[in-house]
Amino acid sequence: MDKIKNGYKSISNVYDKYITSGNLLFKLVSKIIWGVEDKDYSIELLKNIPNDFAGKILDIPAGTGILSFEKYKQLNNSEIICMDYSKDMLEIAKRRFENNNLKNIECRQGDVGNIPFENETFDAVLSMNGFHAFPDKEKAFTEIKRVLKNNGIFIGCFYIKGITKRTDWFANNIFVKNGTFTPPFYTKDEIAEKLNREYKELELWNVGSILCFKCKKM
Ligand SMILES: C[S@@+](CC[C@H](N)C(=O)[O-])C[C@H]1O[C@@H](n2cnc3c(N)ncnc32)[C@H](O)[C@@H]1O
Repeated sequence: MDKIKNGYKSISNVYDKYITSGNLLFKLVSKIIWGVEDKDYSIELLKNIPNDFAGKILDIPAGTGILSFEKYKQLNNSEIICMDYSKDMLEIAKRRFENNNLKNIECRQGDVGNIPFENETFDAVLSMNGFHAFPDKEKAFTEIKRVLKNNGIFIGCFYIKGITKRTDWFANNIFVKNGTFTPPFYTKDEIAEKLNREYKELELWNVGSILCFKCKKM
């Protein structure tokens, strides 16, 4: 866990530009590494939460909030908990939400492997770009399902292996080494099988090597 914490501490100041392909260089890097040109995949994914959603949402890992805060500006009727293991990433998210006067969001440091909430607390769980980082992925799946209400929605995206050799090389040789990714990684088929077994109404698609999904707890 220290490796992850330090990995994200060291990149927290450039993370926003990187994840949003915020300049020409990062756009190129994103296309080469992930096969993804911009952050449109996250905008499409977030459309699965209706703007009038009036429930309790857990965003884990929230990171710096860069991909979600435009959506959160619309979700005035929701109560949102943003959780991340890295205090450095979360501090940036907290400032961003405060600067945008988003009062229905609480930022809390926490581990997806041990989510500090009771069973069936949330109407929706959002997990963007987290599973390739989480050290214990099976525990993360178990914990997310535990805190989700029956019929609650689970939406997310993350890196999957097996789409292109180039992306897999970068994941294993750069991101695992700098502490921002933790193996083993899933393939698209493995995730489809897992989510189909545990959830209903699964929709699953990939944009380059990023897998996006939406499903409901049975
Ligand atoms: C690539 S960032 C994604 C952040 C955000 N959702 C986004 O898409 O921009 C991955 C995040 O996972 C967090 N993380 C890694 N392991 C974690 C864990 N066990 N519990 C909670 N967060 C964790 C890291 O601190 C980091 O902020």
